[in-house]
Amino acid sequence: MKRDLLSILDLTREEIYALFGRARALKDLQKRRVPHQRLTGRTLGLLFDKSSTRTRVSFEVGVYQLGGHSIFLSPKDTQIGRGEPVRDTARVLSRYLDGVVIRTFSHDLLEEFAHYASIPVINGLTDLLHPCQVLTDLFTITERKGRIEGLRIAWIGDGNNMANSWILASSRLGFELVLACPPGYGPHRKVLDLAGREGGGKVKIVEDPREAAEGADVINTDVWASMGQEEEYDARRKIFAPYQVDAGILSMAADDAVVMHCLPAHRGEEITEEVLEGPQSVVFEQAENRLHLQKAILEKLMG
Ligand code: CP
Ligand code: NVA
Repeated sequence: MKRDLLSILDLTREEIYALFGRARALKDLQKRRVPHQRLTGRTLGLLFDKSSTRTRVSFEVGVYQLGGHSIFLSPKDTQIGRGEPVRDTARVLSRYLDGVVIRTFSHDLLEEFAHYASIPVINGLTDLLHPCQVLTDLFTITERKGRIEGLRIAWIGDGNNMANSWILASSRLGFELVLACPPGYGPHRKVLDLAGREGGGKVKIVEDPREAAEGADVINTDVWASMGQEEEYDARRKIFAPYQVDAGILSMAADDAVVMHCLPAHRGEEITEEVLEGPQSVVFEQAENRLHLQKAILEKLMG
């Protein structure tokens, strides 16, 4: 049966750790320029309704390094933009492609596509979740800290798709997660309910960013207005101003804490230039690891 990756909950804890192991091996092979073409003759489609630098390029390069090929599909150049139903597109593309990465607004649309597709569907970000990024961030943490268990991870800012995926990750892997969000901007109810049913996580939601940062091993943040929320940008800038990750917030974390941001970042808004470019920032390692971790995902789902 085909496997999809729409949410971190689609993977077991053992599968997540196996992905980290394979990503580490693939990273080493790529650094040593050893060929590792396990997807020869396979084609990956990338169906993107939103802009992307990292997700698009890391998947395209990743499948190429694995011996396969990719096709970038934007709605304006396909019949999707002219209203061809999702369920038809899913069944047609399944007859050409061996897998597809979808970046879109509605998570329901992604689920509908996956329901009708007979090929693996990978979530390249929806308004609700961004699993490939959070899996990569967890992999980056294992490289840096040698473990995830027992760590205290802080999320400071919007309760957005990244925050939601962190909550599901905590429920799968059991680390402590403290989110500081302004009132009314917390994580999605559906995700909290889902995490509650799965159990396993130690998730706390607070208002004060300092409470989240206190003793944290990892400080995480993201933009205050995600793609699709451009009209709310001015209002959000004011509401989120007390949630900037700056030197003061960082000083409350553990001495060896790392700072994470999935990028793109807005310096001077959710994070200061000093912290983003500072010695505790691992943002470019995160960006690089998208390539290695997603190659492990492609092998697992399309191999
Ligand atoms: N972090 C991330 O998903 O970046 P892109 O929007 O550039 O793909
Ligand atoms: N939360 C951001 C992440 C971008 C990678 C967004 O959805 O725009």
